[in-house]
Amino acid sequence: MYKDKTAVITGGVSGIGKEISVQFAAAGANIAIVSIVPAPEGLISELEGYGVKAKVYLGDVSSYDDTAAIIKEIQKDFGTIDYLINNAGITKDGLIMRMSEENFDDVIHVNLKGTFNMTKHISAIMLRQKSGRIVSIASVVGIFGNAGQANYAASKAGIIGLTKSVSKELGSRGITVNAIAPGFIATAMTDVLDDAVKEKMVERLSIKRLGSPADIAATALFLCSDGAGYITGQVIGVDGGLSL
Ligand SMILES: NC(=O)c1ccc[n+]([C@@H]2O[C@H](COP(=O)([O-])OP(=O)(O)OC[C@H]3O[C@@H](n4cnc5c(N)ncnc54)[C@H](O)[C@@H]3O)[C@@H](O)[C@H]2O)c1
Repeated sequence: MYKDKTAVITGGVSGIGKEISVQFAAAGANIAIVSIVPAPEGLISELEGYGVKAKVYLGDVSSYDDTAAIIKEIQKDFGTIDYLINNAGITKDGLIMRMSEENFDDVIHVNLKGTFNMTKHISAIMLRQKSGRIVSIASVVGIFGNAGQANYAASKAGIIGLTKSVSKELGSRGITVNAIAPGFIATAMTDVLDDAVKEKMVERLSIKRLGSPADIAATALFLCSDGAGYITGQVIGVDGGLSL
């Protein structure tokens, strides 16, 4: 069902995004990655090894103009866009008393404005074709908050509000819009924490391990499947029980 479809994945060259690129390619979808950094050596040939087309478009998701131009290029190269996975994200943590205006703005611009930019430009294409799936990577922190992450939590809560609103606008045209709220996922973003902190995190979980990028990618793939056509406006927790 994914064959000959095109998935646009932001930040799809590392961590969770890379695994999303791999799982969608393995399922038969063509892959267009929008990334601020080049793909690591071997990624494009790994994706093409699944018999699909794959290309990286260098650009900044927080730029309205960059994203508009890139999406035009993707449409020219791939013909259609069927799935959008808004995965690009950054953190610039700090307690509110110490958080600079710049660190607040940067995180909101990449995480929330980036999701807006991509969703706005690509939903115009999906509206014309009367089909499409949009999945945005939020976070449990966007639901519960987290000390030291006011900017990040606000950006992820914003993504949840955007997802629910846009799902109401696009549902009648055959487009579903959902968010995934990962818990603690083992990537470069969480690698910086020391082992004692990680152990403490795992103690709180029902499933006694950190999540993996594959856990998130499998959920994104499911939300783009034919079987998920009646799921929209939802925030799917993939967090090993953290939010219970
Ligand atoms: N790792 C976790 O525990 C965790 C938990 C909850 C949510 N998330 C979310 O999952 C997503 C992926 O995170 P990850 O852990 O794989 O981290 P990561 O740093 O490996 O991935 C983020 C990707 O976004 C790209 N990116 C950053 N700024 C960009 C910009 N301006 N334009 C285009 N691309 C840009 C980066 O180059 C990178 O490829 C993020 O949205 C993150 O907030 C991660």
